[in-house]
Amino acid sequence: MSRNVLTVEDLKVTIHGQPVVDGVGFHVAEGEILSVVGESGCGKSMTAFAVMGLLPAVARLESGSIRLGDVDLTTLAEKKRRKLRGDDIAMIFQEPVASLNPLMKVGRQIEESLIVHRNLDSAETRRVAIAMLEEVGIPEPALRFEQYPFELSGGMCQRAMIAMALICRPKLLIADEPTTALDVTIQAQILELMKRLRDTTGTTILLITHDMGVVADMADRVAVMYAGRIIEEAPVDAIFTRQEHPYARLLLSTIPRLDGTPKTVLPTIEGTVPDIGEWPAGCRFNPRCPLADRQCVERHPPLAPRADAGAAACWHSDKVGAML
Ligand SMILES: Nc1ncnc2c1ncn2[C@@H]1O[C@H](COP(=O)(O)OP(=O)(O)O)[C@@H](O)[C@H]1O
Ligand code: SF4
Ligand SMILES: [Mg+2]
Repeated sequence: MSRNVLTVEDLKVTIHGQPVVDGVGFHVAEGEILSVVGESGCGKSMTAFAVMGLLPAVARLESGSIRLGDVDLTTLAEKKRRKLRGDDIAMIFQEPVASLNPLMKVGRQIEESLIVHRNLDSAETRRVAIAMLEEVGIPEPALRFEQYPFELSGGMCQRAMIAMALICRPKLLIADEPTTALDVTIQAQILELMKRLRDTTGTTILLITHDMGVVADMADRVAVMYAGRIIEEAPVDAIFTRQEHPYARLLLSTIPRLDGTPKTVLPTIEGTVPDIGEWPAGCRFNPRCPLADRQCVERHPPLAPRADAGAAACWHSDKVGAML
């Protein structure tokens, strides 16, 4: 079995004292793509920021361990952690424009990681950076290299940021909704590039998305989050074939048809994700769950092994198959 590049255990993050990530644990093996899915507000980005050591000022890491290989990142000095960022670990952010420096030329921003982490001369640094811009589908890369972010479209800024993340061929890539702002052709190109990176350099990828088509196409394993927790986790084929948590059942049944047959009306999940501080007692999905009963309101279900592989947290997992 290949070794785990990333191991997260019992991660807890709060904002103003309210939990937003509440006991999350998962691992990603070398060269594996783990997809984290769930509606907006479930704590996916906060989990990613915690792994990067880039939580926003309002958020606090309360407890848990985050290991890159054997190194515990939570106890690592900031200077050492900074050294890992951009080289061993890189992140593609959900908000591309906010993560580019408006005052610095695009090319210089792509080069920065190379300058910090690689010992190349300036001509070689420039050559590698321009090649990277080309690889992420930016036309006229030498011209774009000399421009400022405001001179690029939103989609192009997204691609420039992806180039920044990939330039040092990181061991672990965290991609938070990486292709949301991109049209389908460029999206396919970026996803292909990420796969190629995995295949050629063995990059391990944590891919956050709510596009189930992307999950089906990219992921080896899937973790479904709801209200700050992982509520089901399994290899991709297993979880698309059979879900043991009603939320995963509803979410994964919204996968678009890839065979070209006309779309039928997709089942929707009634209600919304509860705000932080308003999570219900018992199972947090109970106000929206068609299978909820008294036990669900009173007691929180633990993550328990699924019948085949993986784990799910539902008192009535045996009834989920007959739900839809
Ligand atoms: N800067 C912030 N200030 C206050 N609350 C925040 C901030 N960022 C995120 N949150 C809250 O934290 C929770 C988890 O957010 P997030 O991790 O971004 O969810 P996801 O990525 O799954 O959509 C949400 O309830 C969100 O409203
Ligand atoms: S524990 Fe109960 S409320 Fe929660 S998902 Fe399962 S059936 Fe629904
Ligand atoms: Mg997010």
